[in-house]
Amino acid sequence: MSDKTAKLSLSGGEHEFSVHDGTIGPSVVDISSLYKETGAFTYDPGFTSTASCDSKITFIDGDEGTLLHRGYPIEQLAEQGDFLEVCYLLLYGELPTKTQKHDFDYRVTRHTMVHEQMMRFFTGFRRDAHPMAVMCGTVGALSAFYHDSTDISDPHQRMVASMRMIAKMPTIAAMAYKYHIGQPFVYPQNDLDYASNFLRMCFAVPCEEYQVNPVLARAMDRIFILHADHEQNASTSTVRLAGSSGANPFACIAAGIACLWGPAHGGANEAALNMLGEIGSVDRIPEYIARAKDKNDPFRLMGFGHRVYKNYDPRAKIMQKTTHEVLGELGIKDDPLLEVAMELEKIALHDDYFVEKKLYPNIDFYSGITLRALGFPTTMFTVLFAVARTVGWIAQWKEMIEDPSQRIGRPRQLYTGEPKRDYVPMNKRS
Ligand code: SDX
Repeated sequence: MSDKTAKLSLSGGEHEFSVHDGTIGPSVVDISSLYKETGAFTYDPGFTSTASCDSKITFIDGDEGTLLHRGYPIEQLAEQGDFLEVCYLLLYGELPTKTQKHDFDYRVTRHTMVHEQMMRFFTGFRRDAHPMAVMCGTVGALSAFYHDSTDISDPHQRMVASMRMIAKMPTIAAMAYKYHIGQPFVYPQNDLDYASNFLRMCFAVPCEEYQVNPVLARAMDRIFILHADHEQNASTSTVRLAGSSGANPFACIAAGIACLWGPAHGGANEAALNMLGEIGSVDRIPEYIARAKDKNDPFRLMGFGHRVYKNYDPRAKIMQKTTHEVLGELGIKDDPLLEVAMELEKIALHDDYFVEKKLYPNIDFYSGITLRALGFPTTMFTVLFAVARTVGWIAQWKEMIEDPSQRIGRPRQLYTGEPKRDYVPMNKRS
């Protein structure tokens, strides 16, 4: 830790706080004693300038458009690795050896089935329930089925719960999809890799053999990699806060899924595709750009902008490349939504409003076009995001639980309500 300090003059006194440097990226001012020393809180709604924790998992440089997982650039992981390798890296901090990778794949593969009684759990939902509602409910209920891995003080139970979640999320997601479309559930198949198994559980039917297209499976695997983890985003912060109270890991992940569902966060991929569909054609783009710039219009370009990236989201570039690969493999030549998306991106990136506010496409801008081409309905897009992000949530939760200085998260507030006043009996009220 450096011996740098930051000085603050407040309430007639001089106060000094330690400044800690990270390996790379911004330093932090440790204000944990601020309230005790000054009687004042910091104020940072939306946490634009607040570091909530010390983490070694993911680093983002928003100005450069850099994303590292345990130091490895996302571009290299997406190009050369596979999703379960990235899961191992996020969880354990190093790329696995050949033996470690084989063992990890074996353990995940053999946790993919869910308790048979969970089938009955699904039948409680309406068929037209949004798959994200099903995911929230079903994942939250996992602690009712796997109570033998909810003691977070036991490292073995933490590991079992982690493997169960990473392994079972694709199965639960596929079941949510099959239930939504009224088709029978498809069991996982252990001789398939993670992404192939997921595609088969979603798109196979009992009436015929299902052959996984390796190009599409590779694209699905890469989409999982791109969504695996992203520092202290809203849903990850939700998982950390839930976990800080000692809640079981299944409940914490269910909380993360609920937060991810919002259109400002993981729900943006579904919203972005719906927006592209609403725009419909290139000639209507100027109308929507004007709406996005109009302060009185709540409309925003979904898939654009980011709290951290003030440059191109590196994942969006890889996503765009994957989109072309998938459309090419499927022989989809002139996807009208892709045409609108590319023209919209071109116009927006040269428009002063977007340039000045540093609004670039984020990962959600192209993912929807790819997922639709793979055969998923828009209602499944955020579910796929949740499947991939589960490993990030788990890795961040694990890092927090294993941090000896970990305490329950309990922010304070700036109170602007009524000062103390006495109760007025009903017969005295006007
Ligand atoms: C994800 O945090 C993460 O890492 C998230 C994520 C992950 O992997 O976990 O990367 C995944 O959630 C990506 C973001 C997906 N969301 C969207 O695409 C929804 C559209 N984008 C926005 O709603 C917005 O950009 C956010 C929510 C992403 C970021 O919001 P901020 O940081 O609070 O920024 P802001 O809303 O204060 O916007 C700053 C300015 C505002 O204008 P002013 O008030 O300063 O005049 O930019 C404008 C906004 O009006 N603006 C947009 C815009 N996004 C921001 N204007 C038009 N269209 C947009 N998309």
